[in-house]
Amino acid sequence: MAKHHLDPNYLDPDYEPVVNHSGNTPFNEVLAARMQRRALLKGSVGAALASVMGFGLAACGSDDDNNDSGNGGSNEEAVTELGFRAVPVSSENRVVVPEGYTAKAFLPWGTPITGEYPAYRSDGTNTGADQEQQIGMHHDGMHFFPIDQKAGGNSSTEGLLVMNHEYINQDALHTEGATYVGGKRPSDEVRKEIAAHGVSVVHIKQDANGTWDIVFGSPFNRRITSGTPMDIRGPVRGYSKLHTRYSKDGTGTRGTINNCSMGPTPWGTYLTAEENWHLYFANSSDTQPREQVRHGIGDSSRYDWELAENTADEYIRFDLTPDAGSETEDYRNEANTFGYMVEIDPFTPDSRPQKRTALGRFGHEGVIFAPAEEGKPVVCYSGDDSRFEYIYKFVSAKPYYKATAGGYLLDEGTLYVARFNEDGSGDWLPLDLEDTDFAAKVAEAEGNMVGDITFDGFENQADVLLNTRLAADIAGATPMDRPEWGAVDPNTGEVYFTLTNNSNRGKEGFDGANAANPREPNDTGHIIRWTEAGNDHTATGFDWDIFVFAGGPGTETEVDGEVVVTLDDDNIFNSPDGLWFDYNGRLWIQTDGSDAPPYQNNMMLAANPRTRDIKRFFVGPVGCEVTGVVTPPDVKTMFVNIQHPEANWPNSNEPRPRDACVIVTRNDGGVIGA
Ligand code: FEO
Ligand code: CA
Ligand code: CA
Ligand code: CA
Repeated sequence: MAKHHLDPNYLDPDYEPVVNHSGNTPFNEVLAARMQRRALLKGSVGAALASVMGFGLAACGSDDDNNDSGNGGSNEEAVTELGFRAVPVSSENRVVVPEGYTAKAFLPWGTPITGEYPAYRSDGTNTGADQEQQIGMHHDGMHFFPIDQKAGGNSSTEGLLVMNHEYINQDALHTEGATYVGGKRPSDEVRKEIAAHGVSVVHIKQDANGTWDIVFGSPFNRRITSGTPMDIRGPVRGYSKLHTRYSKDGTGTRGTINNCSMGPTPWGTYLTAEENWHLYFANSSDTQPREQVRHGIGDSSRYDWELAENTADEYIRFDLTPDAGSETEDYRNEANTFGYMVEIDPFTPDSRPQKRTALGRFGHEGVIFAPAEEGKPVVCYSGDDSRFEYIYKFVSAKPYYKATAGGYLLDEGTLYVARFNEDGSGDWLPLDLEDTDFAAKVAEAEGNMVGDITFDGFENQADVLLNTRLAADIAGATPMDRPEWGAVDPNTGEVYFTLTNNSNRGKEGFDGANAANPREPNDTGHIIRWTEAGNDHTATGFDWDIFVFAGGPGTETEVDGEVVVTLDDDNIFNSPDGLWFDYNGRLWIQTDGSDAPPYQNNMMLAANPRTRDIKRFFVGPVGCEVTGVVTPPDVKTMFVNIQHPEANWPNSNEPRPRDACVIVTRNDGGVIGA
């Protein structure tokens, strides 16, 4: 049997060990959720997200069907109304969508997309080399790039669908699950597992009948895996703590691991997040350096890749235990080349992925960019999904100019971490040794315990970024209930983040509630949102409130003493995770909870951000997580990913479950959700 067989709902306490023992709770009392009614912000409607995406919205979906709703609401409310009938909870092993909609599986694990296009074999006998040319497993974050985006177009019928493959189900991947021979893993099993991780780039096109398919032989089709060579960029590049046998000068590494969510950049590239990368490494020495301790690296790894029979360098590197040699003769520093946001240019198939270290090193769930403005810095947000970890923001040093923008903008700038104050205000705390306040806190902390770590200072800014969590502890950030995806409202600029749950909040030995995370424990999660001061994403202050508390029937969210949402059969949900604003401004919420009643299978709901109207739109098959959603610019096709289905889905006559994308369309060809 596979070791570390993982509960998909993170119920296994070993999956995400609590490694933040910094005690950073800024409030001593349990406070009622504090909410604040904010004035409706009138932004430049539509322009915002269009600029994030790098294409115009002139020809995008407008809600023709709902323009005359006559409810007296503002235009923003009209464009974000939910025009479908909510679907009930479901425990069936199929996808459920509203009346008038159709769902169809697409690009299941094992679909050949490149090279020799090796056919998927349902008995598990595909080789590692086959898997390197096929769609990976455990689909997660995903984005659709219009094929003509670089030329300023906004095609909704042809594009590059880029998706993450977070982890694997070894039992489905191999004929007999993971095997061991004399304590070693067969090398081709390891090769296949590494190839089933990473990212797929798939050129897809809709035919005249509206059917989507892969463009066979397209030069854009590509697999990036946990073995693909990559460059390290930004302040941590070349730092001595990244020197390895593979990259003696600390400028390169191989692979990206545990890619959860993602973010498209304003210049048409894809940033993939490295989330629970720490699980893939083993360190059996008595003591570990702080850059491993603060992430919970154990003495054995999730899939034992370091135990490959052939002892190839690309496999044994997952063992961090120092041998007698020096840092350039072993892999003691290998884990320091993971934990980053990784930039992939899907339009340049031979480009090397770039690890952007200025965005920090932690358990990156994903990233979301604020609308890019000509001549202003680029701003993006990223959550660290572990219990009691933080939310971060990066502001570039150099300004954005559409004509010249590129990944270099992500190599210089300031990384901030969020502090949510009790009064509904918030502060962005810079993690920068050149900042006087931060430098003073660092000086004060030296020689003291920070959580479990005796803090002996930072060597330089590269050291700060390598140890982002520790730096954030010292800065005084607010420990959150597992920050997952973020989203920026294209109509107002407000930033939303899901806080999926926190089983340890308030338990003995752990932080209690704070205003932004007020439940002890937080079993079902909530969604927080904020507005940057002056609606300027580079601001160092913000105002926050809670958009909705997830939970069962009757769960209330109050604003100024008034109940603004009460969940009922149409919208009960738990453990919000995926979050995305479509190009019209509807908010899509995806869940990663247990399949237990009353919620049953995981689901996706749509929300109107102005009215807080929420309706269940989609329910996935048994045992899955619904994660990853995107549409082309016209919002008439929706791609939704199904991760780790439990039973034989999508094909009931195949013996193995297959992660897959689902294409949702409206039977009358209209805008999804309208
Ligand atoms: Fe991979 Fe935090 O979900
Ligand atoms: Ca998951
Ligand atoms: Ca997630
Ligand atoms: Ca999750």
